[in-house]
Amino acid sequence: TAQIGDYPVVLVRDQQGKINAFHNSCRHRGSRVCNADKGTAAKLVCPYHQWTYELDGRLLFARQMADGLDKSQFGLKPVACE
Ligand code: FES
Repeated sequence: TAQIGDYPVVLVRDQQGKINAFHNSCRHRGSRVCNADKGTAAKLVCPYHQWTYELDGRLLFARQMADGLDKSQFGLKPVACE
């Protein structure tokens, strides 16, 4: 994780070795998804209500949400990185 100006960011290397950066803010209610400075995780799981994101930012699981929730609209917001 890193703080870029006012924005907390989480950087991950996905299963293909690609580095991705996202705003470290859950799309549910804005909790920080990752609180660790660094480490290893198979998925990014929000500690608040366990919304679960793939390392490419896609929302995989949204607990206690209606069946019709379009998860494709609630992935982590990307941050440019190179
Ligand atoms: S704020 Fe992240 S799951 Fe609710």
